[in-house]
Amino acid sequence: MFRVTRRYRFSASHRLHAPSLGEEENRRLYGKCNNPFGHGHNYVVEVSARGPADEATGVAVNPAALDALVGRQVIAAFDHRDLSSEIAAFEGVPPTSESVAVEICRRLKSHWPEEFSGRWPKLEKIRIAETDRNIFEVNADEIA
Ligand code: NI
Repeated sequence: MFRVTRRYRFSASHRLHAPSLGEEENRRLYGKCNNPFGHGHNYVVEVSARGPADEATGVAVNPAALDALVGRQVIAAFDHRDLSSEIAAFEGVPPTSESVAVEICRRLKSHWPEEFSGRWPKLEKIRIAETDRNIFEVNADEIA
């Protein structure tokens, strides 16, 4: 069994603001990400899948198929967008890296059979870095 990870990048803007908290609390919690007019990040996303190597090809995860899926469901949807206002999943939900990771995972999980129709490979996890100091990870098995 192999675990294969591919790295992708997109740039997007957001503003983190929880309507249930006051202005001061929002500033304390989100820091610069609470700036009223939004700002951008260069996100790095790693998508991991696992499966056995195919006997005939020696390949566990077809990289072109993964690129096609991530391209359609993540890059085309998020790159150069404002996550706070242009993505339905973040209506009323602050697009923190945690929430972005979950949304990416949901999209890839639900569209996985478009590129991977067999038993293997399976989507395993998503890692996302909003800055090089913060890395967020979700396990595909834990996301509904
Ligand atoms: Ni931010």
